[in-house]
Amino acid sequence: MKLGVNIDHIAVLREARKIADPNPMDALGIVKRAGADQITIHLREDRRHIQDSDATDIIKHSPLPVNLECAMAPEIIDIVCELKPHRVTLVPEKREEVTTEGGLNILGDNSKLQETIQRLQHHEIEVSLFIDPTIESVEMSKKLNVEWIEFHTGKYANIYAMLFSGLDKTHHTLPELELPRKELAEMLEEELTNLRVLSCDAMEMELRVAAGHGLNYQNVEAIAEIETIEELNIGQSIIARSVWIGLEQAILDMKGLLIR
Ligand code: PXP
Repeated sequence: MKLGVNIDHIAVLREARKIADPNPMDALGIVKRAGADQITIHLREDRRHIQDSDATDIIKHSPLPVNLECAMAPEIIDIVCELKPHRVTLVPEKREEVTTEGGLNILGDNSKLQETIQRLQHHEIEVSLFIDPTIESVEMSKKLNVEWIEFHTGKYANIYAMLFSGLDKTHHTLPELELPRKELAEMLEEELTNLRVLSCDAMEMELRVAAGHGLNYQNVEAIAEIETIEELNIGQSIIARSVWIGLEQAILDMKGLLIR
């Protein structure tokens, strides 16, 4: 199982003070040394964390392939076509959200999305769509001729947290429910089966499958066992752990959980 490390949160800390430190560039060598396979960054329209100059420097100097997440905004796509990261993952973006709350809605009119995908592919950039795990979204991704899909695992992570951590609400895709443990356990199994079946369907359609959002040291193993998921992109939990034990060890610990 490949691991993409999302290093946005290093820039979050820097932007809290609007100074030069810590610089996400300094993570590149550490991420590679710890055995991760990809650097993931999100260039947001509101430039909340990663700035244009970070994206430029990271893509230029990264020893690992860079997966750049962004919205379909024309201004951002112009920049991305210039920067030419290895892969672009198209994500939905809302200004008020604290994180990407769900997958892209690709079931409506897709003319703008299709144009964006073709433009990126014309610049020799692989395209991935961040989607909710539904068969309709997988089939539409295939029609849109992208190389990759990334399943939003927020619902899985949220059910897991309610079941095992006693948290009642960690994610916005689930309503605040008071559910008995048995029901939560069934929901968790259903969500895992859904991810398993859909990633298999996607692979049969010759789509490459990644997953991410809300994955952490407690909930990642069941996802890592799904052989048809090739890669996970993980940010928050790795950077949070790195505060205590350092980035290299935090990545090594995560890589250890992904062995299958
Ligand atoms: N994958 C995508 C497409 C994302 O947008 C994000 C961040 O929201 C992640 C993975 C990583 O999520 P997390 O920080 O919860 O690990």
